[in-house]
Amino acid sequence: MKIINKKILAKTQITKIVQFKLDAPAIAKKAKAGQFVVVMATEKSERIPLTLVDSNPKEGTIVLIVQEAGFSTKQLGEFQEGDSLYSVTGPLGHSTEIKNHGKIILVGGGVGIAEIYPVAKALKKVGNDLTVIIGAKTKELLILEKKLKELADSLCIATDDGSSGRKGFVTDILDELINKQRYDLVYAVGPLVMMQEVAKRTKERNIKTLVSLSVLMVDATGMCGCCRVSVGGETKFACVDGPEFDAHLVDWGELGKRNNVYKKQENHICRLNNL
Ligand code: FES
Repeated sequence: MKIINKKILAKTQITKIVQFKLDAPAIAKKAKAGQFVVVMATEKSERIPLTLVDSNPKEGTIVLIVQEAGFSTKQLGEFQEGDSLYSVTGPLGHSTEIKNHGKIILVGGGVGIAEIYPVAKALKKVGNDLTVIIGAKTKELLILEKKLKELADSLCIATDDGSSGRKGFVTDILDELINKQRYDLVYAVGPLVMMQEVAKRTKERNIKTLVSLSVLMVDATGMCGCCRVSVGGETKFACVDGPEFDAHLVDWGELGKRNNVYKKQENHICRLNNL
């Protein structure tokens, strides 16, 4: 694990979703699909966990995608090409088990699409048959569509307003697919409600399902307990035991409540800034 200032080599922005390409050779060398980093924009910023969307060990670069939602992510979004972030720590968390499962459906909702891309890339390399379902509120918020189209054997799209693909939800498409034929694995990343709905559907049909949990994190080293989640009746920490878990064993009700605890404070200004 390394903590070093990281320079932004490129920045692209689509509405409130920002993609950064960073100079981070030590992380790029070790990054594996499913892992994440913790970013601090400035010395006094909060720590933001972000998925390693892509990495290039030869170039020494990594790609991160952040959705501007609260104070800290908006602050990060203000950084420009040529700026350096205070720190990027990683790679963290367990990587995805990459093997030939057979027929897989990957479901990505909103900024969760960024998390399924590296997993899809790695699973395709070992010969899996991939159906990818991506969804967002509107066409403008669909990310990585072109890259996933190149990778997937089949790409299905759903938008809430029907501006791209099917009008509706990713779970509508999932229902149709799993009713038609047997799949060996479903992998889902997105809003908690979406992952919970995916888990409900696949549990009924006994299809192994993994989810990567984007939960609140502070230290990301298993010490603070902030990312606690109950899985199969056991307490796990998403930062060190995850971020991937068996979707059928996650206590979704408890997780939803924990993630909502700080909703009101989402736009607060960290008091550390006044010290
Ligand atoms: S973020 Fe503190 S234990 Fe996981």
